[in-house]
Amino acid sequence: MALLDRAIVRLLPAVPKPVVQRLSSRYIAGPTLDDAVRVVRRLNAKGKLATVDVLGEDVTNADEARAIAGQYHDVLARIDDEGLDANISLKLTGLGLELDDDLCRENLEAVVADAAARGNFVRIDMEDSSTTDRTLQLYRRLHAEGHDNLGVVLQAYMRRTQSDLPGLDNVRLCKGIYIEPPELAFREFEAVRASFVRSLEALVAQGSYVGIATHDEQLIQESLRIVRDAGLDRERYEFQMLLGVRPDRADELVAGGHRLRVYVPYGSHWYEYSVRRLQENPKMAGQVASDIVGRVFGR
Ligand code: FDA
Repeated sequence: MALLDRAIVRLLPAVPKPVVQRLSSRYIAGPTLDDAVRVVRRLNAKGKLATVDVLGEDVTNADEARAIAGQYHDVLARIDDEGLDANISLKLTGLGLELDDDLCRENLEAVVADAAARGNFVRIDMEDSSTTDRTLQLYRRLHAEGHDNLGVVLQAYMRRTQSDLPGLDNVRLCKGIYIEPPELAFREFEAVRASFVRSLEALVAQGSYVGIATHDEQLIQESLRIVRDAGLDRERYEFQMLLGVRPDRADELVAGGHRLRVYVPYGSHWYEYSVRRLQENPKMAGQVASDIVGRVFGR
């Protein structure tokens, strides 16, 4: 990332919220479930699958956590009613992980059971390193209890990932987005890429279903090579991308015969997710600058 972009990444928390909201609108379906459904329908029409995320993390009380779980039940019902090709992605902190383990487990179990009854699937996103152990434990526990419509996420930047992957049978692999100390996570760009490739090879070798979540062209190419060399049929893996990022590349993967799932976040708690996406956008500095200039001069 260029120097100016890095400087703006650091300044982002000071950028006015309306600017952040406008700049990040391409990454978010909108505030309501209707918005998410509209976007999923559009994606499905282009041969793309979706995973719907209700925005909301770091809830402060049990009612908020139950409300988020309730929204996921609504999402599952709408997917079912409208025959959409979509599953759901959720964050355990949104279901109450930082408040009470039992509350979080109950919320998760209910959502997973609802999804199973509807023939659907739940992906547990991976958050920062303070949650990794608890997330994997809860996943393994539910899985051991017979819930098999459930998958997790591993982050290639984490040094521990190689030792976490044995026994996981449905994994989304991504680079990882949270700021972690160097003793826990690789910092160098090439080290993260190398870990991604190593982890994908290991997951494929152990027969896991893999969601290959990256927009990095070099990793897309490496991943295509790995699935081809392993002779995986298209039901054993999928590519995954974020809404608003490299949609044309996603179209090409679909045209090439690969399954491709788009992460579709919606809801009113858009701020934290938006900042993370803007921090990753290589053209962000220019966009932030031109947006502010546009506002000052009243476009
Ligand atoms: P990289 O950041 O190097 O981007 C490669 C290229 O993609 C860039 O050069 C640019 O062209 C384009 N690009 C990437 N981000 C962009 C943006 N915001 N705007 C415009 N262009 C952009 N992380 C995590 O810690 N836990 C999780 O559970 C998940 N879940 C998840 C699901 C899905 C479906 C995806 C695709 C990603 C995640 N992530 C995640 C985020 C992931 O860890 C990572 O931060 C981003 O995917 C960016 O990494 P890339 O591999 O795309 O590489």
